[in-house]
Amino acid sequence: MPTQDPEAMSLVRRALEHYCNKTTDQAPETLSQPISAYIDPARFRHEVQALFMRLPLALAMSIELPTPKSYRAMTVMGLPIVLIRGEDSRVRAFLNACRHRGALLCRDGRGTLERFVCPYHAWQYDLRGRLTGLYGASTFGEVSAETHSMTELACEERAGLVWAALTPGVTFDIDEWLGDFVRPLEGLRLANWHLYEQRDIPGPGWKIAWEGYLESYHHNTVHPNTVGKFTIGNLTLHDTFGPHQRIVFGRRSLPELLEQAPEQWEPDKHIRRIHLGFPNLAVSGVLGDHCLVSQVFPGPTPETTVTRQSVLSAREPCTEEEKAATEAFSQIGLKAVRDEDYVIGAGVQSAIHSGANQAFTIGRNEPAVQHFHRMVARFADKARAADTAR
Ligand code: FES
Ligand SMILES: [Fe+2]
Repeated sequence: MPTQDPEAMSLVRRALEHYCNKTTDQAPETLSQPISAYIDPARFRHEVQALFMRLPLALAMSIELPTPKSYRAMTVMGLPIVLIRGEDSRVRAFLNACRHRGALLCRDGRGTLERFVCPYHAWQYDLRGRLTGLYGASTFGEVSAETHSMTELACEERAGLVWAALTPGVTFDIDEWLGDFVRPLEGLRLANWHLYEQRDIPGPGWKIAWEGYLESYHHNTVHPNTVGKFTIGNLTLHDTFGPHQRIVFGRRSLPELLEQAPEQWEPDKHIRRIHLGFPNLAVSGVLGDHCLVSQVFPGPTPETTVTRQSVLSAREPCTEEEKAATEAFSQIGLKAVRDEDYVIGAGVQSAIHSGANQAFTIGRNEPAVQHFHRMVARFADKARAADTAR
């Protein structure tokens, strides 16, 4: 008898009911989103500041920093960031720039470090970012760890992800930010997976790119030979956790359950859960032992994004069969996003200034897209109010 997680059973029952009735979770009404929400440069700049520069973003997975002294350096929206796991196992985030005359302290990538040594004039910092050594100290003049340590960013590790705020001085309480979302996110056990591959994919404007992660309405048309092969189009369960969301798609095998007694069901074989951390994180299990993590970062203008796509496998693939399965999953994820979603997105982008639409209409069957736009407005308004009060 399979073990049945009550939550998975309840999700699979909901999905099956929709399948039988040809229905899906719905928002009460359609939502009109003005085109300016996608293209207005002032609005874009404000939203980037309000959301991406102030909210905790999942910048990396814990498995990218597997041991004390592991680092992960990256450029995020033009900002040089370095995450480092200290000897105390805590992950800290810093701007990756020397406090002398600003050289990058380490190159983008991963590895281990004993300390940061600046490649320009060899200032040294420990793994907590403290200035510890100065070449030619007796000749330089007065500087100290108090005044010239690395610039730290607020950073917390939770649910197998490393969260940081990109603006120095901005703090956050990660438990408050995640709220009830932490439970489904922790249920994914992201810290136990194996990182098979990671790549950056250029794409269209951030809202256009991101909307594609939030609905299955397009799956049959855009992805008939990739992810759409495994999911039932236009069948979505939708649950919100504050600004965060979980959507669930039915797998093609879902109707097989109609032939089985519920005690026999293995619910997770028949649904696909996607966890959406506001504003830009999607964690999506597509095929059993594999998982795709996507972080969509706005480019310098409303027209572009960079998506960091990480392919995870439940364990390091060892046999030829496991290697082939993981590589096939990786290729499906790449193709579906780069060659399908973002090709459609590029088309949307190319027509968005044409005047064909004054607004886009988000369907009742696209509740997660609606929720996303409402949350963008909420956080943008909140930041505007805070700026005015200042
Ligand atoms: S810029 Fe780093 S030591 Fe001079
Ligand atoms: Fe898609």
